[in-house]
Amino acid sequence: MHDIQKICQGYLQAIQGVTHLAALEDIRLKALGKSGEISLLMKSLGQMDAEERKAKGAEFNHAQQQITQALQAQKATLEAQELTARLQKEWVDVTLPPRQERLGHVHPISQGMAEAIDILKSMGFSVADGPDIESDKLNFDALNIPAHHPARQDQDTFYLPDQNGETMVLRTHTSPVQIRTMREKKPPLRIIAPGRVYRSDYDATHTPTFHQIEGLYVAKGLNMGHLKGCLVEFCRRFFGRDDLKVRFRPAYFPFTEPSAEVDIAWENGKWLEILGAGMVHPNVLRNGGVDPSEFSGFAFGLGIERFSMIKYGIEDLRAFYVPDFRWLAHYGFRATDDLNVGGVSS
Ligand code: DAH
Repeated sequence: MHDIQKICQGYLQAIQGVTHLAALEDIRLKALGKSGEISLLMKSLGQMDAEERKAKGAEFNHAQQQITQALQAQKATLEAQELTARLQKEWVDVTLPPRQERLGHVHPISQGMAEAIDILKSMGFSVADGPDIESDKLNFDALNIPAHHPARQDQDTFYLPDQNGETMVLRTHTSPVQIRTMREKKPPLRIIAPGRVYRSDYDATHTPTFHQIEGLYVAKGLNMGHLKGCLVEFCRRFFGRDDLKVRFRPAYFPFTEPSAEVDIAWENGKWLEILGAGMVHPNVLRNGGVDPSEFSGFAFGLGIERFSMIKYGIEDLRAFYVPDFRWLAHYGFRATDDLNVGGVSS
């Protein structure tokens, strides 16, 4: 076998054995590149005499062609293999159903809160605020609940370390915002204070944290009739029934006199207690810096969880506080749901 044929065979074998396109390019350069082995042989033809050049020229040309063809063929094979491998790896089943996007839901507490605030705002109340960590003076004393008053035992209180010699508590109700507001603003004033409250209590109808909305209206000449009118209107709009029966029962709260508990006649005519209210006690007005001989006021306090449970048909209070997406998807609300209830916008 001539040299050139040996060389050519060597290249053809190497090309066959190549598994990567990059390695194939290395071979091409080694054989056919500018100073590749075959290229140099082709150049050497110039130094040969005519006879030899004719014979060798044909051989070299043949070798060059064979190598070129082998390179092309192997390149095509490797490219096809690469494509097949990619198609297998990047395979997508376009017939699969799309994955459900999980939409967030508004929690029934937030929804109930927003609906109640919306109605009360439309009735002229503006929103006031107070801290969750409150002094026991404002949470109890200023609301006419002195130390050792039995009402302190009614509200199982979380006590906190003293601050500047003052006993601090997690507020047990939103009522202290009444005092804060009266000390800050001159009457007439008409506020609601929505927020979180805390009691050391846990069973099917009590959780250690829950939400209230406090209402306070202080002006000249307010009486029980105004309170009734306001709360009947509010309840009818919140529960979406124009003919909802609302009942006021005599009750006792230290911070109101007279006091009432308010019931609604819900499904099958059963009375459900839903909130506490009354005419602001003169002591409470005085503690807020308001002269009871000049002004009177009414107040009310309602639990949002209870309002939401009744309106949306939720049975177990404790479920409100369990982070369960399935529960929330069922009882929650779409963020786009219209909050304007009762046809009045705030
Ligand atoms: N603070 C009371 C409670 O948490 C609720 C309440 C009753 C608030 C009567 C009031 C009211 O403003 O007048 O049980």
